[in-house]
Amino acid sequence: MALVIAIDGPAASGKGTLAKRLAAHYGLPHLDTGLLYRAVARAVLADGHAVNDRAAAIAAAGRLGPIDDRDEALRSAAMGEAASVVAAVPEVRAALLQLQREFAGRPSGAVLDGRDIGTVICPRADVKLFVTASAEARADRRYREARGRGESVTYERLLDEIRARDSRDAGRAVAPLLAAADARVIDTSQMGIDEVFRVAVTIVDTFGPAMARA
Ligand code: CDP
Ligand code: CDP
Repeated sequence: MALVIAIDGPAASGKGTLAKRLAAHYGLPHLDTGLLYRAVARAVLADGHAVNDRAAAIAAAGRLGPIDDRDEALRSAAMGEAASVVAAVPEVRAALLQLQREFAGRPSGAVLDGRDIGTVICPRADVKLFVTASAEARADRRYREARGRGESVTYERLLDEIRARDSRDAGRAVAPLLAAADARVIDTSQMGIDEVFRVAVTIVDTFGPAMARA
């Protein structure tokens, strides 16, 4: 029996890290749906268009090819920002819907993480998790990551960026960042990665289908 786990949450909440670990634990394929929006944004910019050029974003979403999830250039902060601009265009979201649904419909099931997985992409997921953390905790995580890469950024600037992205993602008209009514919320502000993983496994094993409990 398939097991579908939907994970949503704001930037740097830890949803990607959790999704990877759950996928490995339950032997499921994982789709980081943020990469789709990042790839659309990159294609728009690579073609010389402005990131808020809606027609260019719709065209890029329509011809999106396979994405290499080891592509570090897609993971930059600038591409995350640009992704949140193209992600507010309804036709871009519509163009990416089927691909995500097909991934979730694999016989094994799947783990998907993003902003609208529990609300729009997989409304009937077996388990829905909404991973969140204070803006300060998330800015601190991004700060540590940037410092680890040797980048010189200030914590204050990252905090401003996190807040701006939160309000763009939560304030848009289509598929805003929102916990599904039946999602279980995990506030990770004070939790390490291992602890978040243990809490999530307990939720899946308790509330997921019998297969996950076997
Ligand atoms: O890893 P991080 O949370 O910083 O970003 P991401 O998950 O790669 O998503 C980048 C942007 O894509 C987000 O700010 C959203 O605007 C958009 N996105 C979305 O709208 N829906 C999704 N399912 C995933 C991402
Ligand atoms: O996918 P998302 O943007 O939500 O976050 P992530 O890329 O999984 O995590 C962002 C950063 O926070 C990574 O460097 C994680 O190692 C770190 N993290 C943490 O310190 N504590 C957690 N409970 C979760 C993530």
